[in-house]
Amino acid sequence: MANQLLKGKKGIIFGALDERSIAWKTALSAVAEGAEIVLTNAPIALRMGKINELAQQCNAQVIPADATSDADLDALMTKSMEIFGGKVDFILHSIGMSPNVRKNIEYTKSNHENFLKTLDISALSLHRVLQAAMKADAINEWGSVLALSYIAAQRTFPGYNDMADAKAVLESIARSFGYHYGFARKVRVNTISQSPTITTAGSGVSGFDAFYTYADKMSPLGNASAEDCANYCIMMFSDYTRMVTMQNLFHDGGFSYTGVSAGIIEQMQQAAQ
Ligand SMILES: NC(=O)c1ccc[n+]([C@@H]2O[C@H](COP(=O)([O-])OP(=O)(O)OC[C@H]3O[C@@H](n4cnc5c(N)ncnc54)[C@H](O)[C@@H]3O)[C@@H](O)[C@H]2O)c1
Repeated sequence: MANQLLKGKKGIIFGALDERSIAWKTALSAVAEGAEIVLTNAPIALRMGKINELAQQCNAQVIPADATSDADLDALMTKSMEIFGGKVDFILHSIGMSPNVRKNIEYTKSNHENFLKTLDISALSLHRVLQAAMKADAINEWGSVLALSYIAAQRTFPGYNDMADAKAVLESIARSFGYHYGFARKVRVNTISQSPTITTAGSGVSGFDAFYTYADKMSPLGNASAEDCANYCIMMFSDYTRMVTMQNLFHDGGFSYTGVSAGIIEQMQQAAQ
């Protein structure tokens, strides 16, 4: 369904690890819609993932950058502008990792060193990316920066652990930086709050399968897939949304505004019999 919505636009995409990654699907869609892109990920992910396969398909260069390193991010901005011969129009921050989740440490027993890493990798990194971009004046006017969030920022989902706090900070950074970047350069910053999605990061959350099925049953439209999320990102990068900034946008098939669904009630009734 490509419509050249991003014709002539240039962008940086963080976070494509393998073909399930939301960033992977967004990279393919952005190129199909006429954009030129640079791909980036943490050096370790470049070694373990399949990003070179994607780079070939997208005719894109890969620049390693750890999103917790200001030096890496500064170099990424400079190199991207060299490759494009100018500024970028969009950036996708599709980054998340919690050592506490990875090590199955319960929220009430969090290791605080791990907690700080979760916040740095999954939330503060958005501030670092925006700061590096602003310092290098790397984004064109009306450019669009997006980060991916989850509804655990607003409501408690116990298995989501310290990632919930990271997402709350991430959404707040999008609002705060969006204010400053809007006045300074007419750059917009938003988060998309996505349904549970089967990816490496997603499946790491404890009880993910039950959680995924529950959300699917609760949502009038069902869970939004990674492809659906990619389409929403394309719309947010396009000029059709140029006045949207500082928002957290739910992309979840209606989950966020559903109290309970008939399907869930039926299941509870069956369990009670
Ligand atoms: N999968 C879900 O259920 C779901 C739901 C809502 C939001 N999200 C969010 O979507 C985003 C993308 O996740 P995904 O589901 O595609 O999983 P994914 O595992 O494919 O992507 C996560 C990416 O973060 C990268 N990353 C980790 N540490 C990094 C660092 N220090 N520097 C740079 N990159 C780093 C990883 O290499 C990986 O590419 C994340 O922010 C995630 O929290 C996911």
